[in-house]
Amino acid sequence: MEFLDLPPLVSARGTVRLPGSKSISNRVLLLSALADGVTEVRDLLASDDTHVMLEALKQLGVGIRHEADGVLRVTGVGGFFPVKTGDIFLGNAGTAVRSLTAALAMAGGQYKVSGVPRMHERPIGDLVDGLRQLGADITYLGNDGFPPLQLKPAQIRPGGVVKVRGDVSSQFLTGLLMALPLTGVETTVEVVGELISKPYIEITLATMARFGVTVAREGWQRFVVPAGSRYRSPGTIYVEGDASSASYFLALGAIGGGPVRVEGVGRDSIQGDVRFAEALAQMGAVIEMGDNWIEAKAPAGGLRGITLDCNHIPDAAMTLATTALFAAGPTILTNIASWRVKETDRIAAMAKELRKLGAEVEEGADMIRVTPVKTLKSPPEGIDTYDDHRVAMCFSLAAFGTALRINDPKCVAKTFPDYFDRLATVTEAVPVIAIDGPSASGKGTVAARVAAALGWHYLDSGALYRLTALAAKRAGVAWDDEPRVAAVAAKLDVEFAGESILLAGEEVGEAIRTEDMGTGASKVAALPAVREALLFRQRLFRRAPGLVGDGRDMGSVVFPDARTKVFLTASVEIRAERRYKQLIAKGIAATMAPILQDLRERDERDSQRSVAPLRQSADAELLETSALTIDEAVAKVLGWAKAKAE
Ligand code: DC
Repeated sequence: MEFLDLPPLVSARGTVRLPGSKSISNRVLLLSALADGVTEVRDLLASDDTHVMLEALKQLGVGIRHEADGVLRVTGVGGFFPVKTGDIFLGNAGTAVRSLTAALAMAGGQYKVSGVPRMHERPIGDLVDGLRQLGADITYLGNDGFPPLQLKPAQIRPGGVVKVRGDVSSQFLTGLLMALPLTGVETTVEVVGELISKPYIEITLATMARFGVTVAREGWQRFVVPAGSRYRSPGTIYVEGDASSASYFLALGAIGGGPVRVEGVGRDSIQGDVRFAEALAQMGAVIEMGDNWIEAKAPAGGLRGITLDCNHIPDAAMTLATTALFAAGPTILTNIASWRVKETDRIAAMAKELRKLGAEVEEGADMIRVTPVKTLKSPPEGIDTYDDHRVAMCFSLAAFGTALRINDPKCVAKTFPDYFDRLATVTEAVPVIAIDGPSASGKGTVAARVAAALGWHYLDSGALYRLTALAAKRAGVAWDDEPRVAAVAAKLDVEFAGESILLAGEEVGEAIRTEDMGTGASKVAALPAVREALLFRQRLFRRAPGLVGDGRDMGSVVFPDARTKVFLTASVEIRAERRYKQLIAKGIAATMAPILQDLRERDERDSQRSVAPLRQSADAELLETSALTIDEAVAKVLGWAKAKAE
């Protein structure tokens, strides 16, 4: 599985221009397609969900042209799609499936509407029931109540009252409302049960109004689509920034100091999810808002847990569940039953992954309660994302507590393809000084001294390879048996405490320093599966206030974003002499020739192997220590680190 390792974060600050709103983009696309005239759509979201909508509309005969600067020209069909048959595949885009099904049911053609397997588990029965009241001919091709669907030409009988349930998904009402103007007859839609996610209906009505159709609303129960309604192009339309996507950045500001500002939504937004800012304010965050921007800062006293009915912010509320990890006291989110029928069962998914981080979680049919822990655990198997963009994005916040592995990170493409790049631009990670170099170059001594001088953590990555070699030997596993050595590495039970290194509870600080284990380490280190197994374990050493890591691939592979990179070396003769003196000082008998020979062989193996070979990377400072004392070498590294921090 693909994964992304997020570095632990220390602060957040900056400005993000938001991508276009998914909800508005897909409504605007459909209405531009159905309208009379040409619509120029600006700031449209470019993502998986809008892509499937665009492809479907093209397939249905709508003229769509991509122009410079991301502008899209849509030539409307003036009511009905010219292409009367087709298999319309809509991936996992709920907004596209629900609204297109309604429009196609009125279109007098033969269409099949389908999606990815998860889409076939997401309910659509309430919408189909509503459309059947109008005379639509719709057959379930799989399970009753779910896509895929077969739509056939039918005598549509608009007018009167159509009843639709509103308590599972507001998208059913949205689909019906957007399709009804195609009939030209006054029709009333009556909502049965409590209407959830009301702000999304406001987006629907506001977008329809931009295209010339004004729906009369009586509370949240009755909606009258007037006679003679017809969509007309507004000419040019700007898509607002995505208020749900804003939630991650606002939460970053609230957790990581801030201020973090999002541009593209603000006080004037038609999206309900802007009210996420109010929820953050209840948690204590300092919020400021302009017409087209919102900004969040952390409160002086820290965030506090809240209890909130989330009916008005169903999507952004997920972000509160992970923000809760950084608040004092529990956070209780209620009225979130719709989470269960989204990209995945979001209540179950959030509960499971939050528990992996160590939080205490209680889940109910329509609620979740999150009690934070002081120190987050970072699951070595990573955070699973369930092909759900929002799960991936809201768990990125947990990186404020620890390095974190996010599985299948590309699922964010559904609404925010470059989310993780943007995250990096407004956050600062725990700093790293990476010191790489050949065996016996003295890098271990220098790295440990630099760490002590700065009060930072220290990672002796070579020790992990030595420990793997020792553990493999003890388990009777040959050093060249890649799968079995990798399994040993993955399960390595080690504890570093000050000077002492414990393997399965036993002190092995001396045992791993023998020449035999040095050779073993160099051999197991050449196996790609072993390096892979140790990668995340090394990244977990990165903790505030900073880390100094030494090895062969600290700067190139393990911490490529290290602020300071040093390649520390000395001539092989000098290194052999240092190793010889070290051994003698420890009272171990030694002779120069074999030490020199062994170092040469190890240099050869470490630099010739195919994965993460030892070599100076272009962005590393060269520190040649043949003629330097340890103090001089330490001073050099500290000087570079200081210069980088300024
Ligand atoms: O630094 P050391 O001598 O303790 O390292 C032992 C072996 O482990 C070395 O020969 C190569 C390997 N190693 C590595 O491949 N990558 C690292 N980051 C550290 C060590």
